[in-house]
Amino acid sequence: MSSIKEPVVIHKGLDNIYVKESRICFVDGEASKLFYRGYSIEDLTAHSTYEETAYLLIYGTLPSKAQLQEFMNKIESYRPIDSGILQLLQSLPTTCNALDALRTAVSALGSYDPEPETTSWGVGGMEARIDKSLQILAKAPTIIAAFDRLRNHQDPFPPKPGLSHAADFLYMLSGKVPDAYDTRVMDVALILHAEHEMNASTFSCTVTASTLADMYSIITSGICALRGPLHGGANEAALKTVMEVGDVSNAESYVTQALAEKRRIMGFGHRVYKTWDPRYKILKKVGAELAKKKGDEALFETAVAIENSALRHLAGTPIFPNVDSYSGLVFHMLGIPIDLFTPIFALSRIAGWTAHSIEYLESNRLIRPKALYVGPLGLQYVPIEQRSS
Ligand SMILES: CC(C)(COP(=O)(O)OP(=O)(O)OC[C@H]1O[C@@H](n2cnc3c(N)ncnc32)[C@H](O)[C@@H]1OP(=O)(O)O)[C@@H](O)C(=O)NCCC(=O)NCCS
Repeated sequence: MSSIKEPVVIHKGLDNIYVKESRICFVDGEASKLFYRGYSIEDLTAHSTYEETAYLLIYGTLPSKAQLQEFMNKIESYRPIDSGILQLLQSLPTTCNALDALRTAVSALGSYDPEPETTSWGVGGMEARIDKSLQILAKAPTIIAAFDRLRNHQDPFPPKPGLSHAADFLYMLSGKVPDAYDTRVMDVALILHAEHEMNASTFSCTVTASTLADMYSIITSGICALRGPLHGGANEAALKTVMEVGDVSNAESYVTQALAEKRRIMGFGHRVYKTWDPRYKILKKVGAELAKKKGDEALFETAVAIENSALRHLAGTPIFPNVDSYSGLVFHMLGIPIDLFTPIFALSRIAGWTAHSIEYLESNRLIRPKALYVGPLGLQYVPIEQRSS
């Protein structure tokens, strides 16, 4: 039996551990900067679309007009889902968590693919993997919208050809083609959620990819990691807080009490950003405009009051508003049910998960960290009848 001789450093939470070199995303948590493939998030949200950004993340460069058209045509053709997937969604209890429904359906998509496994080696293998991912990326909005309709005892709206990813998702939820403004807001939100370096869900995908698993398993791993409130669920929690607080006049007492009870202010704090999350700034601006356009600024003003109060109380700490402080509010103002916020995060992030999995597989090494054993050794097995209770 060998014993550990060197001092062992435990990297709980894997803070500051690098698992690969990457050309996909750069987050500067001190300078409030975020770049996808070298392009700033401000530039992309001002000029790009979700489809173009997904192409950029997955293939590494901005597409030409023809490449983008081909990419969009492919995604459009992949959007419809098999009737078996619809039956599966229908069989779920109407109380099923929407992210659980997406996770179940994405996992099941693999069993409807006659060839879910692809060789990971060589250019052809990677292309095949990307193609599986595009199938999932294209179908995820259809799945989420269909689940929402079915649980409300309504027939799903099939995807509408000719609509963008953002517009089609909003259309499939309501049956109404959204106007250009709402479509743009949704596009911006999807771009902002498409990628964020090696966070918990992307790492989960990378771990699964490193075993050479199929893309359905890889993307399902990412969805699983989004399930908890510290990663995927914070936008729902942040909006619920705003609704609970209800009015600007209650914001200060809410924040004071929450912090006194050592509760976290949802939509605040980040493992990497120790200053303003650049995505927050963009979404706050979008939220302000959207609230004005919808003619209902009360919730937005309450959110601002909570933010201002929290900033006063947390002054001097590295805890600042993150992307989730206004994303939920923006989705709410677009008429999207609260429990679909995390599934939207997932449907958008499929682009980033794919990009990272493919990049890791290009020089794969099975991810296998260690745990430092600190328990007893050499215990004698005691038959169950002889054990004390
Ligand atoms: C995201 C998050 C998990 C990252 O935190 P982290 O880097 O792991 O930091 P820690 O959990 O170690 O917290 C460090 C300190 O800051 C405090 N803190 C962190 N986030 C806080 C928040 N949102 N509100 C109040 N205090 C917070 C912690 O209580 C802790 O204080 P302590 O040292 O006195 O115990 C954390 O900020 C959080 O829980 N935020 C709320 C959820 C959220 O918005 N998530 C979305 C992230 S995009």
